[in-house]
Amino acid sequence: MSLLKSILGTAVNTDAAEHLGKPTRRVDGPAKVTGAAKYAAEFNVPNLAYGVIVSSGVARGTITSINAAEIEAIPGVLKVLTHENAPKTAWLDRSHRDQISSKGGSPFRPLYQAELQYSAQPVALVVGETFEIARFAASLVRVEYDEKPHETDLHANQAAAHPPTDNSGGYTPAPKPRGDAESAFEKAAFRVEAEYSQPSEFHNPMESYASTCVYGEDGKLTIYQKTQGVQNCQAYVCSVFGLSKKDVQVISPYVGGGFGSGLRPTYELYLAVMAATALKHSVRVSMTRQQMFSFSHRPEAVQQIKLAANGDGLLDSVTHHAFEETSRKEEFLETVVNWSGLLYTCPNVSLVHQLVNLDVASPESMRAPGAATGIFAFESAIDELAYQAKTDPLEFRRKNYAEKDQNLDKPFSSKELRACYDQASERFGWQGRPLEPRSLRKGSDLIGWGVSTGCWEAMQQKAEVKAVLTADGKLTVSSATSDIGTGTYTVMTMIAAEFSGVAMENVSFELGDSSLVYSPVEGGSWTVASVGSAVKSVCEELRAKLFKLAGKMDGRPLGGAELADVTFVNGEVRVTKDPVKSVTYAEVLEAAGLDKLELDTTEQPQLIKRATHGCYSHSAVFAEVSVDEDLGTIHVTRVVSAIAGGRILNPMAARSQILGAIVWGISMAMAEEGLMDHGLGRCMNHSYAEYHVPVNADIHDIEVIFVPEHDEIVNALGAKGMGEIGIVGVASAVANAVWHATGKRVRSLPITLDKLL
Ligand code: MOS
Repeated sequence: MSLLKSILGTAVNTDAAEHLGKPTRRVDGPAKVTGAAKYAAEFNVPNLAYGVIVSSGVARGTITSINAAEIEAIPGVLKVLTHENAPKTAWLDRSHRDQISSKGGSPFRPLYQAELQYSAQPVALVVGETFEIARFAASLVRVEYDEKPHETDLHANQAAAHPPTDNSGGYTPAPKPRGDAESAFEKAAFRVEAEYSQPSEFHNPMESYASTCVYGEDGKLTIYQKTQGVQNCQAYVCSVFGLSKKDVQVISPYVGGGFGSGLRPTYELYLAVMAATALKHSVRVSMTRQQMFSFSHRPEAVQQIKLAANGDGLLDSVTHHAFEETSRKEEFLETVVNWSGLLYTCPNVSLVHQLVNLDVASPESMRAPGAATGIFAFESAIDELAYQAKTDPLEFRRKNYAEKDQNLDKPFSSKELRACYDQASERFGWQGRPLEPRSLRKGSDLIGWGVSTGCWEAMQQKAEVKAVLTADGKLTVSSATSDIGTGTYTVMTMIAAEFSGVAMENVSFELGDSSLVYSPVEGGSWTVASVGSAVKSVCEELRAKLFKLAGKMDGRPLGGAELADVTFVNGEVRVTKDPVKSVTYAEVLEAAGLDKLELDTTEQPQLIKRATHGCYSHSAVFAEVSVDEDLGTIHVTRVVSAIAGGRILNPMAARSQILGAIVWGISMAMAEEGLMDHGLGRCMNHSYAEYHVPVNADIHDIEVIFVPEHDEIVNALGAKGMGEIGIVGVASAVANAVWHATGKRVRSLPITLDKLL
């Protein structure tokens, strides 16, 4: 098999690709636009009950009473679950960290105890015969508290910062210091020392979290769930409620946006399962928009950065110290400071990441977790240093280009960042940009141009894929991954068609069902690298098997051709130089007396190749802003982003990913801010009306350039992933442009007009 595979194994970045690299419309598009695509809260069963969540009104203290008995007496109310009557669960702290293990400590357990952990945590679930009754009854729930003082202010509690105590899981600890950053800083020609801050931000997808838990025969549960990982939810439900995997199926065919908020099982799943098992009844629980602000978020951060360059404008010292909020019971870790030791050549580097425990919900990975935060601050500081050194900021970045991964002391698997700088700056028209701020004008507006570098890890996880070719020549490929709106259905169909030789319209890809074969959660930009590589492998095995069977056929339709002499295309094996000699896959199966061919492959990450390299995607982002000099209003008029993300499999979906991420980067720069009332310990702008995001009028020209990279090290497809890289560096490019326009350096996000006046 391995020999066959090596002959058949199609090299990455092949120009002869039939599907890969071609802009391809979404295979799930028609289902989505016609409403045929069903989401978690749209699966209806007879006799469904509805659970409505009651959220706490205080951040810290003890619940002294809940008028549950009174509420249960309301006609149509089936149950009020609280910490006082919640059934016992078989909780293990690590039980739902099997796939997402970046948090040390003890995960939040809904309805577990009278003690509160944060404001807006769930404190009761009212289950009613109809949604209306449940919602009405929930509005009558009165919770009394014995309040205790809380701390929710990161800035005020910075002195309590501590290093992470549990470095297990997916988080990459900050690298050890190299050189002597402090003494290099002291004797440098050019220096910057500044503090940057960023508020909590909320990944708040259009589809709110919902769980429709169908209680079946013998207590079997079928759960329609909004999530980024069906098997992760299944494992969680099984371990917490003491159920067996065969009795719990989690289904999630479509997801209306994730952005990291669905990496872990969400609390409405816990509540729905608890209610369904307690009542032996099907139950749906959905979150309100306000409740969508009551669990995960990008953590608030304060970052202190010291940079220095020598007289030649070469970076000589980097110190980056980040403080981030986490909850009392868990340590949420994201990779914030490491990028600062990676992006440019620098001999003296000191990177520290610390946490501050607060009475808040645990933060969570939000699109480009850590990189969006850390690179905003670092790339702002690099811009400040370039100005100190009187060097064009793009020239400064080019001059300090990193030729190897200095954190790991390894070469890059590929890095076309220089070409990103070249192509994006050319397209943007950067040349001739005046160095001095406030030197570009258009009428009464000040114009500014900013640049930033971006970076994200190119990761790969273990994944399993199953392929079934049936006698009618149709191929079904499946794995328990998700499509959170990124285009997974489409790209997997393309990969399967490419490597099986079955026409696109005869391939279907199935996902979002825990009963399918193993897949990691969809996250980290690793889905194409992980599941896609397994799709490639299983389809190559399928071709090998078909070829072998064709060789045994009467009449020798391939005339005894060798494997190297045949082509697999459009559901046929053909002799490449003599295509009249051919046989269809259906004929091969029929001759072999098979009604189907079934194969199953597990693809492991390319650990050996990857171990000797640093594997990342890169970007160069250029932004133009226009600032009304009198009013301080800011418009981001142009963004050009060049992405080096390995092989681009579906340029149409890839461009959409980057466009959306750039919009979000503009949002991070200009709009988003979870406004915490520290007196109440509560996020006050918990709605789409008050949590600001850009609208159409805020978004102008955006251009995306893909710079090709050939990379055989990252994975078998050479793809680095498109999910996160697009947002990284956008906020810093905008902040740098605002400075260039106005001469005012805004170091705290978002950049609102009051900070310019
Ligand atoms: Mo992504 S923040 O890993 O869903």
